[in-house]
Amino acid sequence: MSTVMIVGASRGIGLELAKQYAGLGDDVIACVRDTGAAEQLDALASGAGNVRVEQLDVGDFPSIDAAAARIGGGAIDAIIVCAGVTGGQEQALDNVNIEEWHRTLDVNTIGPTLVARAFKGNLAASGNGHLMLLSSQLAASTWPMGGMLIYSSTKAALSKVGQALAIDWKDDPITITVMHPGWVQTDMGGPHAQITAEESASGIREVVANTTKADSGNFYKWNGEIHPW
Ligand SMILES: NC(=O)c1ccc[n+]([C@@H]2O[C@H](COP(=O)([O-])OP(=O)(O)OC[C@H]3O[C@@H](n4cnc5c(N)ncnc54)[C@H](OP(=O)(O)O)[C@@H]3O)[C@@H](O)[C@H]2O)c1
Repeated sequence: MSTVMIVGASRGIGLELAKQYAGLGDDVIACVRDTGAAEQLDALASGAGNVRVEQLDVGDFPSIDAAAARIGGGAIDAIIVCAGVTGGQEQALDNVNIEEWHRTLDVNTIGPTLVARAFKGNLAASGNGHLMLLSSQLAASTWPMGGMLIYSSTKAALSKVGQALAIDWKDDPITITVMHPGWVQTDMGGPHAQITAEESASGIREVVANTTKADSGNFYKWNGEIHPW
């Protein structure tokens, strides 16, 4: 049995991961931006004794440290940062919304990085901790489309953070991976996406379970294949 923390567990892939880990008997720390608006997670938590809901808004940096203080220094075996936003509709060069770009950088890049800092001790206490950052194929140099300046740049920066932390933490008992979760049927991916949240979460769990320190710094697809940078 492990302790798994999901950041951004109110909807989509994060909610599904919380469901799957809880169903397998793991202890789940489910972090949400707005504890008053996470009905599905609340229903999961009230029916299960192993799901603890915590407030953590990755765009509100003091809330990250506040959550870390409440959660304390106990071991956390895996932290999966799912929280993310697209950055809105105005993402072409001619109409890009600069304010939204800054806000999205906070949520998609800086907040997840501060989560890594705040919970590094918990991951180390596990002796074999795993930090996974959900990025995107749009962040890779191989993505063939332009546009989406806000989303792709903030996710590319997140991927780079993951790669850099894997080097910085090379002597710590923590594996860091970057994940493209697939094109997934969620609010973000839309109903016509290629895979379900169940398939994505199940693949993500497999990657967490089957990677070791030697894999730290890798960029994965949800199906376990290596994603090119
Ligand atoms: N779906 C796809 O096809 C796809 C593809 C590539 C990458 N991804 C990435 O995978 C991750 C999960 O995507 P998804 O499809 O599950 O998205 P989603 O359905 O839109 O859900 C996004 C989740 O992030 C949370 N969140 C947003 N801002 C937050 C903040 N400031 N603090 C804490 N939580 C916050 C949301 O909480 P609220 O309910 O409070 O808003 C929600 O739980 C994202 O990082 C996304 O960029 C998704």
